[in-house]
Amino acid sequence: PVVPVPAEYSVGEGYFYFNADMKFGVENESQLRMVSDFVTLLGRQTGFIPSIMIGSETADVRLKTVTSLPDEAYNLIVTSEKILIESAGDAGFFYALQSLRQLLPAGVVEGKKQNRTMEYKIPVMTVNDRPRFGYRGLMIDVSRYFMPKHNLLKIIDAASFLKINKIHLHLVDDNGWRLEIKKYPRLTQVGAWRVKRDEPFPNRRNQEEGEPVSVGGYYTQDDMREIIRFAALRQIEIIPEIEMPAHTNSSLAAYPELACPVVDRFIGVLPGIGGKNSEIVYCAGNDSVFSFLEDVIDEVSELFPSKYIHLGGDEASKVNWAKCPKCRARMEAEHIEHTEELQSYFMTRMSNYVRSKGKEVMGWDELTNSTLPEGAIIYGWQGFGKAALKAAAQGHRFIMTPARILYFIRYQGPQWFEPLTYFGNNTLKDVYTYEPVQEEWKPVYEDLLMGVQASMWTEFCNSPDDVEYQLFPRLLALSDIAWAKKGTKDWPDFLKRIDKVLPHIEAMDITCARSMYNIDHKVTPKGKKLMVELSCIRPDVEIRYTEDGTEPVASSSLYASPLT
Ligand code: ACM
Ligand code: ZN
Repeated sequence: PVVPVPAEYSVGEGYFYFNADMKFGVENESQLRMVSDFVTLLGRQTGFIPSIMIGSETADVRLKTVTSLPDEAYNLIVTSEKILIESAGDAGFFYALQSLRQLLPAGVVEGKKQNRTMEYKIPVMTVNDRPRFGYRGLMIDVSRYFMPKHNLLKIIDAASFLKINKIHLHLVDDNGWRLEIKKYPRLTQVGAWRVKRDEPFPNRRNQEEGEPVSVGGYYTQDDMREIIRFAALRQIEIIPEIEMPAHTNSSLAAYPELACPVVDRFIGVLPGIGGKNSEIVYCAGNDSVFSFLEDVIDEVSELFPSKYIHLGGDEASKVNWAKCPKCRARMEAEHIEHTEELQSYFMTRMSNYVRSKGKEVMGWDELTNSTLPEGAIIYGWQGFGKAALKAAAQGHRFIMTPARILYFIRYQGPQWFEPLTYFGNNTLKDVYTYEPVQEEWKPVYEDLLMGVQASMWTEFCNSPDDVEYQLFPRLLALSDIAWAKKGTKDWPDFLKRIDKVLPHIEAMDITCARSMYNIDHKVTPKGKKLMVELSCIRPDVEIRYTEDGTEPVASSSLYASPLT
């Protein structure tokens, strides 16, 4: 019961037993560090303090480099005597250890629930595992809800347990600028703080000039270095997103001179949707905007080792550009006919700068509305992600994060049980059954598809628990669709696996939704009566009726249903 499901495995007879005298053998320092983390957690619960030796070929659990294996792949060979782990490098060794963690009882490798009398054993088996996609992503919107560092680290840890390897941080939006930029301190002094409004996101009134701001926060560059290091030790790359030219009232609140001069209203950090204020974007005719953004990119490219920088580019209103004399002068000078192409000018200019730093550019699929910057990697979110295919048709690589399925802001169960959010449902089953590669695709599109990403927008989140609730268990389904071999979906098997893996996630003190056990109902008129149909996305949740059909009884053998 491993999530994501291994590519190939076979289970034999008998078990390998963990014990106090066992020895781990590693080849180098980085393997030593990974195995030490594993052994420390194991020891905390079991009382075993296994020794780890560099260079031992006789150890009970041995890591062995096999350079012929593909990147990120591993073999896990368990006999009743020994465990052998083979991989070409650290990523595969790390993933093999995550599979081992999942095969031990929940709590053992989370350092919880001390139990020193239990037997710790793993079935005899051979696992030959490798991922389907090189990009297995989770986007976290830390702008709408500022996730404290400690909680962000917890989510990164849980994501790495599921072999997710990219965390895309949405660091900038209208609702907050979340990264310290040394050259522009007002970005965080002003841009990281918004007015407190206790209403749900869509109902929040904008800040009045002079109103105190108290909600927010940001990551210092030292914080971010710590996050990057923590993630790197877990084989995760942190990809920064610096939004432009829209979704940035936070930076414009700090430096309003970067907006088009036709904007005559007060610009504050938005507490909610923002109405007309969300139309305020960077002025495309003002060279100071570009020098400002280049300075930001200088610090971002220095800070983040990732080879990617995401430049946003979504949902940019052109209403001010159309009126702005500076923007119009730019269009004239650059022979640009339409404001949509002015966005291409903007993105291409910034993209060239990012490329001059040796980084690759990423952006949302709105970039396909005009001439695409060279080499830009596109995230498909609109129309089931289809908008990204326009980029693929031009030879661009892309990532699928269709809003309809992989935006975890949506409800995951019957809406009357769920915390308030919007945009309909993306259930666990919707996520699990998602296949990004469609039959009508040209074969070359599949080659250009780097992978899939869950996008966690946090407009409705007010605490780390709220974020965790939306993420789990759906992140387990994301991990499976990103890793599992194409064409191997098996919903009942997935449910069995997550029932074993979710307790590990809960042992990490993560809040998981129970929505998949909820009983949904559909009411339809039938003559002078109403017919009520009950259903659950889990086939193993049993719905029983009394003899005369008048009193439905719903029960789940696994968790008490909220419908009692
Ligand atoms: C987006 O959802 N605006 C990328
Ligand atoms: Zn302008």
